[in-house]
Amino acid sequence: MAATQQTPVSLINLAAPSRNLYQIECAAHTRPWSAEVFLQSKGPGYRWCEARIGSQPVGFTVCQQVADELTLHNIAVSPRYQGQGIGAVLIKDILAYAEARLLTVFLEVRVSNQKALNLYHHSGFETVGRRPHYYRLQDSFEDGLVMRWTPATTP
Ligand SMILES: CC(C)(COP(=O)(O)OP(=O)(O)OC[C@H]1O[C@@H](n2cnc3c(N)ncnc32)[C@H](O)[C@@H]1OP(=O)(O)O)[C@@H](O)C(=O)NCCC(=O)NCCS
Repeated sequence: MAATQQTPVSLINLAAPSRNLYQIECAAHTRPWSAEVFLQSKGPGYRWCEARIGSQPVGFTVCQQVADELTLHNIAVSPRYQGQGIGAVLIKDILAYAEARLLTVFLEVRVSNQKALNLYHHSGFETVGRRPHYYRLQDSFEDGLVMRWTPATTP
């Protein structure tokens, strides 16, 4: 049970991803993005947020806004800092940003990624679709779930 944030975390918005965040990407994900894709994910519409403890980066999110939709492309927390509420802090920041601008938030997640699913459900996301064989694994595929969060103030 990890949801209460006991660790003092600060959030910083970045104009572009950094090599430090790519290290977190590689440590946290079983199939990380390529460095090229990760470091090129920037420009108009992108929003990077870095979570820090002191001066140390411990997690990040990257979203992309198109019209009134915000897509969460990636979220990761350093393995040794997982389960301390940092993911919840990062998601809360995105939802506050979306709520203030009346943006609907979408994301995709592997059906077996229970920790991420718990986090998204607790944060108010609902499952709105399923993409068969969406994720390529070592020697198989896995379905992806499409999840949506809608701002409370939607007319
Ligand atoms: C998914 C990930 C970002 C979560 O980060 P985290 O810092 O470990 O997450 P948190 O500690 O904030 O939350 C996770 C736990 O808190 C619980 N939680 C979060 N918000 C909560 C709330 N408001 N109330 C109750 N419980 C809550 C979750 O259920 C989960 O608990 P459990 O897994 O022990 O059941 C992290 O595990 C990670 O980097 N995973 C690898 C990369 C990845 O899979 N990214 C997602 C791709 S879609």
